[in-house]
Amino acid sequence: MCGIVGILGEGPVAPQIVDALRRLEYRGYDSAGIATLEGGRLARRRAQGKLRNLELKLDESPLRGAIGIGHTRWATHGRPTENNAHPHANRRLAVVHNGIIENFRELRDELKAKGHGFATETDTEVVAHLVGDAIEAGRRPAEAVASALPRLKGAFALAFLFNGEKDLLIGACQGAPLAIGHGEGEMYLGSDALALAPFTDAITYLEDGDWALVRRRSVEFRRVSGELIKRQKQRSQAGALLVDRGNHRHFMAKEMHEQPEVVGRTLAHYLDMAAGEVRLPFALPKNIGKLSRLTLVACGTAYYAGLIGKYWFERFAQLAVDIDVASEFRYRDVPMQAGGLTIAVSQSGETADTLACLRHARRHGQRVLSILNVATSTMARESDIVAPTLAGPEIGVASTKAFTCQLAVLACLAMAMGRARGVLDPQREAELVSQLIAVPGLMAEALKREHAIELLARDLAKSRDVLYLGRGTSFPLALEGALKLKELSYIHAEGYAAGELKHGPIALIDEALPVIVIAPSDPVREKTASNMQEVAARGGRIILIGEAGAAQEAQVETMATIAMPDMGAEFAAIPYAVPAQLIAYHTAVFMGKDVDQPRNLAKSVTVE
Ligand code: F6R
Repeated sequence: MCGIVGILGEGPVAPQIVDALRRLEYRGYDSAGIATLEGGRLARRRAQGKLRNLELKLDESPLRGAIGIGHTRWATHGRPTENNAHPHANRRLAVVHNGIIENFRELRDELKAKGHGFATETDTEVVAHLVGDAIEAGRRPAEAVASALPRLKGAFALAFLFNGEKDLLIGACQGAPLAIGHGEGEMYLGSDALALAPFTDAITYLEDGDWALVRRRSVEFRRVSGELIKRQKQRSQAGALLVDRGNHRHFMAKEMHEQPEVVGRTLAHYLDMAAGEVRLPFALPKNIGKLSRLTLVACGTAYYAGLIGKYWFERFAQLAVDIDVASEFRYRDVPMQAGGLTIAVSQSGETADTLACLRHARRHGQRVLSILNVATSTMARESDIVAPTLAGPEIGVASTKAFTCQLAVLACLAMAMGRARGVLDPQREAELVSQLIAVPGLMAEALKREHAIELLARDLAKSRDVLYLGRGTSFPLALEGALKLKELSYIHAEGYAAGELKHGPIALIDEALPVIVIAPSDPVREKTASNMQEVAARGGRIILIGEAGAAQEAQVETMATIAMPDMGAEFAAIPYAVPAQLIAYHTAVFMGKDVDQPRNLAKSVTVE
């Protein structure tokens, strides 16, 4: 999603703004731009595509101003062209925006009727006109922003720079994050603390409905109503987080290889490994023993983590789970009982639909436990309980290490709830803990299959479609494998419960269709073996991910087998995620795709 940066500096700020925007690249974008004051007058440079294109423009025609705003745009309204890139400007001001102005049509019609001409296809341009109009009518910049903000509907963050105002930036936020960074005689604005980490670790987060007048030596916080308020400064840990690729070709490669370490670190946070017990770093709601069901909401890969978790909550805690993608859940008429528990799963903690479900659940008197990777996110601030995934910053747009860490947390939570409800005895808990402790080592072992997968990927790259099959927890993993392949390589892929094969998708099977079967040695593997035979009988090309000897046992010929180490069945989904990720990664790399920033995708989806 879009990234915002603003700097009130001592010298030229354009290079610093580009540097900060680079730290926001992970959010996904398709154009970029910057505006500064040159001798007090507004100047802009914008470019379609990556930041490199913006830098080339700045090389040709540098900006030297000591105050400026910058933006990476992920197109929502209008194509990703230079003309639609932010900042949007008129003779009074420049503005950058993250999110959506829902009532932009209505405002545009009103402004057009007043004689304003519109030059772009964006929703953002109405903000520039609305505030510009108020300044033309004689208002000071702060008064003009104050008059415009109550008129804007939707979820957004904004940063303004004004013609002739060398010591003022204004930031505002409503449902999208914005942070103020405090420096020595310099001040900053950014979509998150990571963007500002090279400049300062003293951060104030704006809350929904806040806006701030930022000057080099002061900052004033107000509510949309105009009321003056105080907001706390906090120390951010973002500077400690390394944002480089190390020796890897892509962030995604680095993040896949970090998994044994970060999953191990996450497990250590939730388990007493020596005692063979789960030990949560927070207390579960007191009524957990009385609950009969849980609600689980998430989007995309985090949703598939939740679907796998559902099997564990049912099995270990005897809790029924109502799970849905957040974009559907928020508009269903779900009866929610006060005192119940909702679990939200999110890497970024900013996903608009998941956040809306969290708020919906809280309005219905539910407690919300969120499994989050970004500790400073909006969801973290609004949850009753935060269960962190200790994956570290995930920069590759496609989620990998956050997903496996989410699984680790879900597994521990399901066991802890089982114990709290008196349905998981200590011996079974100890057995499960020993299976979980083995997971990081098994993931490291799975990563050793990388070369074989790289060779296989060359073949897969020729496919038009790919089918993924699995049963039990391997079914959601099949969905996740298919999602990874399509988002990275743009090859069409589908995941199915293997038992559903004969209810339709079997019609697709022919010699051209690779069928990736995820079949760990679990209680349903014989059922999966029958489904493989059905595929083989119709000439389908099977790629089996299973333990050595699984193909012989199933009596099928495969196009390839990825031989996984022997392991306990309960948490096999976590190590088996590794080959699924590697298949997608290497297929996309072989096809020359941008795996870290696939087309059209955003890391942090702050619009619904
Ligand atoms: C796919 C992927 C997305 C995210 C989804 C939710 O690889 O990363 O499907 O999982 O956009 O994002 P978070 O977890 O930040 O809520």
